[in-house]
Amino acid sequence: MRRFSRIVVTGGAGFIGSNFVRWMIDRHHELELTVLDKLTYAGNLANLADLTDNRRFRFVRGDIADASLVGKLAKEADAIVNFAAESHVDRSIEAPGDFIQTDIVGTHVLLEAARRHSHQLYLQISTDEVYGNVSTGLSSEDAGLAPRSPYAASKAGADLLVLAYATTYGLPVAITRSSNNFGPFQYPEKIIPLFVTNALNGEALPVYGDGMQVRDWLYVTDNCAAIEAVLMGAAAGEVYNVGAGNELTNLDLTRAILAKVGQPVDLIRLVDDRPGHDRRYAVDTTKIRGLGWRPNHEFSDALATTIAWYRDNPAWWKPLKTGAYLDYYRRQYADRLASSLPLE
Ligand code: NAD
Ligand code: DAU
Repeated sequence: MRRFSRIVVTGGAGFIGSNFVRWMIDRHHELELTVLDKLTYAGNLANLADLTDNRRFRFVRGDIADASLVGKLAKEADAIVNFAAESHVDRSIEAPGDFIQTDIVGTHVLLEAARRHSHQLYLQISTDEVYGNVSTGLSSEDAGLAPRSPYAASKAGADLLVLAYATTYGLPVAITRSSNNFGPFQYPEKIIPLFVTNALNGEALPVYGDGMQVRDWLYVTDNCAAIEAVLMGAAAGEVYNVGAGNELTNLDLTRAILAKVGQPVDLIRLVDDRPGHDRRYAVDTTKIRGLGWRPNHEFSDALATTIAWYRDNPAWWKPLKTGAYLDYYRRQYADRLASSLPLE
């Protein structure tokens, strides 16, 4: 088991990062964590509000591509866990530039800092989307990378850079590639928080294409436990898939959300598809199970817990669905909804 004094958690004001910081503070009582986050539209200090008085927690606003700032923070730490990214596929289709800058260039800056300060581990938080569309079977960690969206390509580029630093410079690195996360504090652009908050408001739920695309749903704290297991115990140089095996079509997911919120299925609208939409992702998790990790949440219960959290915390999400968010929502959905079809 590794022991760390201080970890830099980049992107720690986002969805998974903030859940991870809380997870680690609660379980490692000597550990100090510095969150480095640019606070883009997706970053939110409210996600960390309960930690601001904790003496083992520090927040620094800044960009992972800022080599001088990253160098200072890395000098005081013995590991970096990199959650920072532009993370939404639809936004990457609209404007890929920020994805390349943060997800690839930013990763390079972090790797250089980890190398200079001889960190114990550099842990890259990646995604199952790097394997591309998986019609049948499961992607194992040694499957080829075949990303198909600008987001997935940026994440794949970062993964290759991380592995190249291990090969070329002997940097101790690890990568996790997880399936779709859900849970509290997820920005309401991704399908579950978008559809839950729309359903709570009695608004339409825009399902792309035929709604038969498949995703594997992983409760966010199960991913946090997986990341912890890799950080503390994995051999350097290794890649770990993380998934729960909860494969659902988007239509079945949408019906489950509506049933739990108590709204009718006629809120569903079939809208024009996402360009290049991957039909299915599915990962083989044998390797991380070898570290003793197992998902700990049953899907239906975790979805109910998530919906209850959004129902109980309108003060968290209602302010997010204003201003620039509404501009984004109109750009993405106004025309599609105007020409949409109800579910037969
Ligand atoms: P998120 O969009 O909720 O959070 C991203 C965070 O990164 C935000 O706080 C944002 O302010 C910060 N950030 C963005 N650019 C930055 C920069 N240049 N410098 C510093 N901070 C910056 O994302 P998330 O859903 O929590 O995802 C976290 C990580 O996990 C990402 O790397 C993503 O690719 C990966 N991932 C996410 C999922 C998922 O289902 N959400 C699944 C697999 C992998
Ligand atoms: O697979 C892991 C990935 O999961 C992460 O790497 C990404 O950061 C994360 O955003 C997520 O990507 P997806 O594209 O799978 O998530 P999203 O919530 O955007 O979409 C999930 C599915 O729902 C996908 O098939 C597209 C569909 N969808 C999405 C939205 C936002 C709709 O049908 N309607 C919608 O309005």
